[in-house]
Amino acid sequence: MIPQDFIRSALAARHVVVLTGAGISAESGVPTFRDAQTGLWARYDPQDLATPEAFERDPGLVWSWYEWRRELIAGARPNAAHQALARWQRQRDGVRIVTQNVDGLHARAGSREVIELHGNITRTLCSRERREVADWAAPAAGAAPTCPACGAYLRPDVVWFGESLPMAALEAAVQAVRGADLVLSVGTSSLVQPAASLPYEALGNGVPVAEINPEATSLSERVSFSLRGRAGEVLPELVNYLESG
Ligand code: OAD
Repeated sequence: MIPQDFIRSALAARHVVVLTGAGISAESGVPTFRDAQTGLWARYDPQDLATPEAFERDPGLVWSWYEWRRELIAGARPNAAHQALARWQRQRDGVRIVTQNVDGLHARAGSREVIELHGNITRTLCSRERREVADWAAPAAGAAPTCPACGAYLRPDVVWFGESLPMAALEAAVQAVRGADLVLSVGTSSLVQPAASLPYEALGNGVPVAEINPEATSLSERVSFSLRGRAGEVLPELVNYLESG
């Protein structure tokens, strides 16, 4: 049940920022990172797969792991939570989505102008020139493909631990939060910086923050509204209320 005071805040808000994490894609069958049983980091060590050092050490292993994730995501579909946010954006202006996810499911649900803080797994870069590469020769089994222009290994266009975020995306996210009069944090453990600092920026500006998560997080005791539930359940209910105004 969504508290009436939150619905009133959402109805009155003119500039909403929705910060999403892996939890919003969990109901699409895309693994999260830190969920105890199914999270990627429960089964793999991020230091072996999601760092520049890991790629340097074994580009074929890192490339193959991202290929596995890419195929899994290609077979996934946006769920009711992604669709509810896209509906909210169609219903009215002023709803911005800032995501830590690299799965592209918000855009596939029809959301517009999604700010991708950690990149997008469907894009491939030359690891040396850092420009996008669309076609390449198939690599030998277990090897990473190489750039047709310079021969360097190709890599996914995602942020690895120890790498900085795309500046334009981070700047856009900070500006959006600074201009917000309501922020939602959906499906994130609120642990990874700098994304995790965005809700605190809003709270520091006296802007209400709502958290949608079946579990408590480090943010939970600070938020204005704590909606303990699955994104695929809470967001459609919220947008239905907002549609009936
Ligand atoms: P986590 O796996 O750390 O957290 C997922 C959160 O989603 C947890 O708090 C879960 O309780 C919650 N959750 C699970 N199912 C949910 C559901 N159906 N509805 C709502 N919430 C649900 O994932 P993130 O917080 O996104 O970094 O992780 C942040 C970053 O750490 C990722 O972007 C990635 C990772 O290392 C990079 O790729 C750079």
